[in-house]
Amino acid sequence: MKKIYLIGFMGSGKSAIGRRLSFLLKIPYYDMDQEIVKKMGMSIPEIFERYGEPFFRQQEHEFLKTFRDEWCIISTGGGVAVNPSNSKLMRQTGLVLFLDATFPDIWKRIHRDVNRPIVQSSTREQLDALYTRRKRFYKATSHITIRTEGRTLRQITEYAAFQVNRLKSNDF
Ligand code: S3P
Repeated sequence: MKKIYLIGFMGSGKSAIGRRLSFLLKIPYYDMDQEIVKKMGMSIPEIFERYGEPFFRQQEHEFLKTFRDEWCIISTGGGVAVNPSNSKLMRQTGLVLFLDATFPDIWKRIHRDVNRPIVQSSTREQLDALYTRRKRFYKATSHITIRTEGRTLRQITEYAAFQVNRLKSNDF
């Protein structure tokens, strides 16, 4: 196993857990959205506006395909695991952890976020429906599901680290 991927809906805590897990396990951490922002030299809302969502999805796929072969943690964007070739790639190159947060928790964290174009262009009901639609993709892509409800960031990170240590010698 080379990489540890964190997947899940927007606001499920992928970046917050990724950073903490990186500190705990002493392995480098990359935020896929930030890597795309760096490469493009513009923000996510700008990329969506200038080039459209399909282009952004292509960037996500390119990132997964070309990112260096290194023992690291990667937090993915909420739409990544919906594409079957992304799911396949992640499962082939690492351990996939699904951060399973409830929609009310997610909504609290994301509803005011101007940096998430999909939140900006959707109602609460639409996001709830998207959350339900995507969940089966997250489940099918992941090796491990981590429920986050009622747990602190620290507890979630420690549980994730336990799973990584338990499974790291497995060949996925
Ligand atoms: C998206 C999630 C975002 C970002 C983009 C699209 C999505 O990442 O990739 O705004 O389709 O769910 P986060 O899950 O880190 O918010």
